[in-house]
Amino acid sequence: MQIDYSRRRTDLMAQLAGATAVFRSAPMAVMHNDVEYPFRQESDFYYLTGFNEPDAVAVLAPHHEEHKFVLFVQPKDLAKETWTGYRIGVDQAKALYAADEVYPISELDEKLVQYVEKAERLYYHFGLDQEFNQKILRLWQRLLATYAKRGTGPVAIEDARLLLQTMRRVKQPEELALLRQAIAITVKAHNVAREMARPGLYEYEIQAEMEHLFRREGGMGPAYPSIVASGENSCILHYIENKRQLQTDDLLLIDAGCAYGYYNADITRTFPVAGKFSTEQRILYELVLEAQLQAIAQVQPGKAFNEFHDAATRTITAGLVKLGLLQGNVDELIENKQHKAFFMHGTGHFLGLDVHDVGTLRNSDKTWKPFEPGNVVTVEPGIYISPYYQPAEGQPEVGDRWRGIGIRIEDDLLVTETGHEVLTAGVPKTIEVMEGDR
Ligand code: GLY
Ligand code: MN
Ligand code: MN
Repeated sequence: MQIDYSRRRTDLMAQLAGATAVFRSAPMAVMHNDVEYPFRQESDFYYLTGFNEPDAVAVLAPHHEEHKFVLFVQPKDLAKETWTGYRIGVDQAKALYAADEVYPISELDEKLVQYVEKAERLYYHFGLDQEFNQKILRLWQRLLATYAKRGTGPVAIEDARLLLQTMRRVKQPEELALLRQAIAITVKAHNVAREMARPGLYEYEIQAEMEHLFRREGGMGPAYPSIVASGENSCILHYIENKRQLQTDDLLLIDAGCAYGYYNADITRTFPVAGKFSTEQRILYELVLEAQLQAIAQVQPGKAFNEFHDAATRTITAGLVKLGLLQGNVDELIENKQHKAFFMHGTGHFLGLDVHDVGTLRNSDKTWKPFEPGNVVTVEPGIYISPYYQPAEGQPEVGDRWRGIGIRIEDDLLVTETGHEVLTAGVPKTIEVMEGDR
């Protein structure tokens, strides 16, 4: 399915009206010394252009008579391209990316001003590139200083991200097609992982099989560092060392997702390495699963964004009180955030071009925005009882049999007109399958 970047730009330009928006590409990030990480385009830049090179600038100037979409790109340079890869270059960028005008990035200072000097406002996100931020500020100050004489120019800078996050919050069909593909690959990888897991394997062996599959199936690789966490490592939310040997009594928590065509899957499953939950592992697994199902039921158009988290929090807190792991009144425990001793993260986030995708969550009066059809959200409650857990004042001691158990169950949901679709339903999560034969 072809992505219509031009329609996205048109939609954004309708909101810009008399303003100009400037977008900076992602920088190359250094891994160590002069070795760089693989390039990954900044998501807003990619969303609007599909252009996948560093050191580029995109300008949207709807009020400009001829050039409403302008790109500044790295010029062709055979010597440099021999080292770092072919560049699209100025000539090709115009046709391939439907730009009205394209310049080499070296001409930015000279050429950018003509697209900004008549704009009523400037949209720009102040990012990590301080040098570029300064460039934009200086341009703006220069135009302000001469505003009285010229009578035009941007009187304010606004953050373009605020507009983009509203657009990106609702996925278009072509985005969903890519997301579904990322999820299909990830589903396969999780099913392979569950089938191969057994005592004696190392966490990294499972990680390797999954990431091998991500690439073999045409994915870009992991959407985020894969978490393959056995035993007490499951209590570390972002455990990524993945170097421990699996033991017979362990649970294995796997939080891994594939990126495909820039869209990210994000799935977590937790199961017993040797195919049988201990009593405590099973009790807590059932509680997390119940919390997840309760939360999933709240993911519907019109339901406020906080309701699914509230549902998960309530189920988990009430369950922990019943088990004697927390004590007190459930409402008061939640009010005082005491559930956070065991469930310390949110229940989910939007998913898309970013794993933690953008999207406005609240209205200006602080009320939560409702879900809309086209939103994609993760639902991922968990319970983590650290081996080093120390009860807060007034809370009970927790016996050793509970310690070192970490459980998270994470699915990716699409909000539909009538409710939701669990996009990740291809990875089972019932107790029966989690135990299975191994
Ligand atoms: N894997 C990142 C997250 O679940 O949010
Ligand atoms: Mn995850
Ligand atoms: Mn997640």
